[in-house]
Amino acid sequence: MPRTFPDGFLWGAATASHQVEGNNLNNDWWQLEQDAAPQVQYSGDAVDSYHRYEEDMRLLAEAGFTAYRFSLEWSRIEPLPGKFSRAELAHYRRMIDTALGLGLTPVVTLHHFTHPRWLGAHEAWLRDDAVDLFTRYVEQAVTILDGVEWVCTINEPNVLSVNHWSLAEVAAGRPYPFGALPDVKIGSALIEAHRAVAPLVRRATGAKVGWTVANQALVPAEGGEAKHAEVQGIWEDMYLEAARGDDFVGVQSYTSQPVDENGIVPHPEHPDNTLVGWAYRPDALGIAVRHTREVVGDVPIVVTENGIATPDDERRIAYTKGALQGLHDAIEDGADVRGYVHWSLLDNFEWGRWEPTFGLIAVDRETFERRPKPSLGWLGSVARANAL
Ligand code: NOJ
Repeated sequence: MPRTFPDGFLWGAATASHQVEGNNLNNDWWQLEQDAAPQVQYSGDAVDSYHRYEEDMRLLAEAGFTAYRFSLEWSRIEPLPGKFSRAELAHYRRMIDTALGLGLTPVVTLHHFTHPRWLGAHEAWLRDDAVDLFTRYVEQAVTILDGVEWVCTINEPNVLSVNHWSLAEVAAGRPYPFGALPDVKIGSALIEAHRAVAPLVRRATGAKVGWTVANQALVPAEGGEAKHAEVQGIWEDMYLEAARGDDFVGVQSYTSQPVDENGIVPHPEHPDNTLVGWAYRPDALGIAVRHTREVVGDVPIVVTENGIATPDDERRIAYTKGALQGLHDAIEDGADVRGYVHWSLLDNFEWGRWEPTFGLIAVDRETFERRPKPSLGWLGSVARANAL
């Protein structure tokens, strides 16, 4: 029996500006890459999607998908404080028009991990005026969003609030503090920022507006029940609670982790672990969606990221099939899920590393030639059938 998804279900793939565009000279990550080399690799030209976005979107549309999630790069749009680039705004408008012209529903993210350098390499969300400055940027961004139905304000605020200070550690030559929990002060600023801009975007564009939360599918280990509740609250639930009342919430899921009495248990070394060292857990998506539903109530859900870093494309297909089965079961049980967006459309710059390949399409980094993998065609055919 085919598992059929709801009518109008969106089938997409995602990217983010700094990971694919190339030459984002004006953002904090570019700076970090210079400061923290060789611990961190350079993004450089990335995969030159800044110039090749039309080809990327065409491959996606021709494979059968109906949506493309991408992000606007704040540092391009506002390279100097209060000075907005009309040329860059027009560039992103062309991307939106290209997507619409190809029959792809654009899902636009306003903030995906990077900040203009002038905001302060490691300050950004610690500044008292951060929310106002972000709002000023969003007021400009909305001027090009006509016809966009789905807008994500801030990507993975919970991961951003860990990375924000962890990366300062890396830049200072210290190791990345794996296992750290989100910084509550930064997290609160991000929640305030989301609450400030969401109504503004809704008013200006009529789009459905939400944010996307990294869901770790945390489960209590024996004896870890109390700690699990505490960690779950700091890691995820305060960000999901901030989504109550929104038009949708984005679930981003890759793996699952137990929590014992000491906290989140790091992934033990295992031959099945993915290229980023995460446990192979296709079932995590179902857990993530069910948990999100419990916290946000009747807010519709979009899976805005799910995927696997692997050199083995057959494994990518097997993982995705498993994840979609879990998603379908959650929908059967009543979860209101509006779409599935795979991470990622392209092999890309995985925040300091080029080795983890998440893409449905490989890219030759010398010639920038795009080479679709079998998983692109496979997931495209699932999209065409709207069924697994
Ligand atoms: C979540 C982030 O949004 C994205 O930028 C990243 O590449 C993927 N997870 C994989 O780690």
